[in-house]
Amino acid sequence: MHVIVTGGAGFLGARLIQQLLSGKVGGQAVTRVTSIDLAPCPVTDDRVESLTGDIADPDFIESGLIQQALADDTGAVCHLAAVVSSQAEADFELGMRVNLDATRTLLEACRHHSARPRFLFASSLAVFGPGLSQPVPEAVGPQPRSSYGAQKAMGELLVNDYSRRGFVDGRVCRLPTIVVRPGKPNQAASSFASSIIREPLAGVEAVCPVDAGLPLWLSSPRAVVANLVHALSLDGETLGDWRTLNLPGLTVTVEEMLDALERQAGTSARDLVRFEPDAAIDAIVASWPGGLAVERPLSLGFQADSDFDAIIHAYLDDERGDELDN
Ligand SMILES: NC(=O)c1ccc[n+]([C@@H]2O[C@H](COP(=O)([O-])OP(=O)(O)OC[C@H]3O[C@@H](n4cnc5c(N)ncnc54)[C@H](O)[C@@H]3O)[C@@H](O)[C@H]2O)c1
Repeated sequence: MHVIVTGGAGFLGARLIQQLLSGKVGGQAVTRVTSIDLAPCPVTDDRVESLTGDIADPDFIESGLIQQALADDTGAVCHLAAVVSSQAEADFELGMRVNLDATRTLLEACRHHSARPRFLFASSLAVFGPGLSQPVPEAVGPQPRSSYGAQKAMGELLVNDYSRRGFVDGRVCRLPTIVVRPGKPNQAASSFASSIIREPLAGVEAVCPVDAGLPLWLSSPRAVVANLVHALSLDGETLGDWRTLNLPGLTVTVEEMLDALERQAGTSARDLVRFEPDAAIDAIVASWPGGLAVERPLSLGFQADSDFDAIIHAYLDDERGDELDN
């Protein structure tokens, strides 16, 4: 099976490609993957083709790169390319072009392709707003308080309607905030959630822009990638008519994250985190729920991390290969 991954050069896209190539989707081996991204795909494997371009640029679509990618054996399109939350809030036009317009264009390309591929859309807990009873039930409608959340919510509706009409076989995964992201901070409003762990572990100061008591809905990269592959593997009938799933996560306050950091790396690491409130970041992140109801996804075989300490362990294993005492 051939799989297309938009955002294949990104944090999750590259990890998803690696995972796809080492396993099966719905019982079928993945024989090749096409990454479509502004940047080249970092996965070095002969089975990966890397197409670089802007999915929101009409020339990119019209020049046929999307058509070039779609083939008779294309079994799935994983749409992960996006402008992340703070950037989409700062640049409304860019967010609408990439997060909404390009999603519809991709769906149209799939609709008119004979293979009728599975279409996986990476949505976000940012489709929800404040004041909802928690954990937020799956049936509660989106009430975003950011342009990013609104764009993701519109993408969710499109994927569901294209699926209802039989144009694609869609599945929408609402991702928790993924920690610990390696490398540098990005333009997601939740970027601090990784920084306050990653930087102190490397002996570097970090700034926390939100209150210590704020609960966050978190998942590790390992768990979310496993869940994305699982979402692709389930057949449409198992998912039912409504194709939107809350992916499992853990409810952890900032304070509890720092407690875990201290257990792993001592008080000196915790002392490297400084609280400096940032109203713009708080307005976005504090509007997101700290927990989503996940009974149905768990019953369908999706996984959650065991606890936040395990997320830190996994980060250290993956990125630094450190030997841990416990
Ligand atoms: N990481 C998280 O915590 C998180 C949480 C919720 C939802 N998500 C969603 O998951 C998906 C992947 O997130 P990520 O953390 O890997 O993000 P990322 O920023 O690391 O990767 C996104 C990729 O999209 C590419 N991209 C952006 N605009 C593009 C364009 N116009 N044309 C082509 N490529 C473009 C970027 O170059 C980048 O490689 C996104 O849709 C994001 O909204 C992520």
